[in-house]
Amino acid sequence: MRSAANNPFNPGFGDADVWVERPEQLGVIHSMVDRAVTGAKQAPRLIEQERGYGKTTLLAAVEDYVHDWAPGAIVVRVAAVDGEPFTALFVSRLVAALRHASAAAELVGAVTDALSRIRQVRLAGVLDVALDDGGVDQPASIALLDALGRLGEAARADGDRPVVLLLDEAHVIDPQSLRAVFTALQEVINRPDGSGRVLPFAVLLAGLPGLRSRFKQHRVTFGERCRDLELDRLDDEAIRDALLRFERFNEQGVRFAPDAIERLIEECDGHPHVFQLLGEGAWDATPDADVITVADVEAGLASSRRERSRIAAARLSGLTEAQLAWLAAAAELDDDERTLTAICRGYRGNPKATAADCGSLGSALLTAGVIRPSPDSRRIRFALRGMREHLRT
Ligand SMILES: Nc1ncnc2c1ncn2[C@@H]1O[C@H](COP(=O)(O)OP(=O)(O)O)[C@@H](O)[C@H]1O
Ligand SMILES: [Mg+2]
Repeated sequence: MRSAANNPFNPGFGDADVWVERPEQLGVIHSMVDRAVTGAKQAPRLIEQERGYGKTTLLAAVEDYVHDWAPGAIVVRVAAVDGEPFTALFVSRLVAALRHASAAAELVGAVTDALSRIRQVRLAGVLDVALDDGGVDQPASIALLDALGRLGEAARADGDRPVVLLLDEAHVIDPQSLRAVFTALQEVINRPDGSGRVLPFAVLLAGLPGLRSRFKQHRVTFGERCRDLELDRLDDEAIRDALLRFERFNEQGVRFAPDAIERLIEECDGHPHVFQLLGEGAWDATPDADVITVADVEAGLASSRRERSRIAAARLSGLTEAQLAWLAAAAELDDDERTLTAICRGYRGNPKATAADCGSLGSALLTAGVIRPSPDSRRIRFALRGMREHLRT
C-alpha cells in the first residue's frame, strides 16, 4: 500500500531519497578529492544557482560518496545562517568533524587551541578550551589560517587524508566572516608542505546567484579564484533511469508505468523541486495500486499547482517592469512560435518590429537563466514550465 506516510518523494528537503544522478558534478568533485590526496594545486569550486536546483542535495550526496572515494576523508559540511556569525559556525563544525573523524587527540587539541584565540568564537561559547597564551585575541583570519594549516598538515601526515569543505548558503555569510574565513582559506589551499605538495584541501561553495560578486563587494579576492561548477536542470535521461528503477526507492514494490515516466519528465522539465512535487502528488493519488500511472501524474500536477506557481513567481521576483512585460508577451505565444522577433512584436504592439527593437531585454533574461534557447536555438523556452502558466494568470 502506498500512503502519504511512506511516500519516498520529499519536496523541499535538501536531501533526496528519490535521487536522480548528477554524474558530471560528482565526477568533478571526485577528481577534486583525488587531487587533494595527491597534493596537486586546484581552485575551489563555486555553484551559483537559484533555489530548488539541488545545491544542498548535491552537497549531501557528496558527503555520502566521499567516504567511498577516500575512506579517511575529513568532511565539513556547513550551511551559513542569515544573521549569524559564520566564523563561529564554521569553527564549531570543523571541531565536530575532527572529533567525528576520530582524529588523533593531538590533532584535535592543536586545531581547537588555534581556534580558541578567535575572540568572536570564544564569546559565542563554541569552544571549551583552556587558553594558555594569556588570552591574546588574534584576528580571526590569522587564527583560522593557523588552525587550517595544522589541520591540513596533520591530515596529510595521517595517511594523506583529504579535508573536504562543503559550504552551503554562502550568499548569507556575514561580511566579517567572509573576509576572515576566505582570506585564511585562500592562503592555506596554496600552501606547500615539506614535500612541495599543497595541503590536502578540496573546497566547494554553493549559494544563490550573486555570490561571486559579493566576494568582490567585500574586497575578498577568493571569488575570483574559484572555478564554476554548473548545476542546472536534471537530465531527462537520468530522470528516466531513476524512475525505471523506482523499486529501489521504496519498499512497497511500487513501479512507474512507462508513459507516466514520460509525462513526469515532460512536466517537471528538469526542475528538481518540481520533480519531487509531481512525484509526491502522483504517489499519493491512488493509495491501493502498485503502479503509478499517467492519471496519477496528472493528479500530482493538480495537487501541486499552487506550489509550482509559487516557485515560478519566486523566479520572476526582482525583474524589471520591462522584463516582465516582455515575458508576458512571450507567454502569449505557443512554444513553436516563440521567437525573439515574435516576442518583440507582441511587446511593442507593432507587427513590423524586429528583435533589435527590444534591445537587450531577451539576452539579459537569457543570461539570468529565466528563459533558455530551444534545442534548435531558434525559439525561446521558459526555464520553468510553470512560468508560462503563471505569467498568463
Ligand atoms: N539530484 C536530485 N534528484 C532528485 N531530487 C533532487 C535532486 N536534487 C535536488 N532534488 C530535490 O529538489 C528540491 C530542491 O533541492 P535543494 O537541494 O534543496 O535545492 P537548493 O539547495 O538548490 O535550493 C528538494 O526537494 C530535493 O529533494
Ligand atoms: Mg539549499
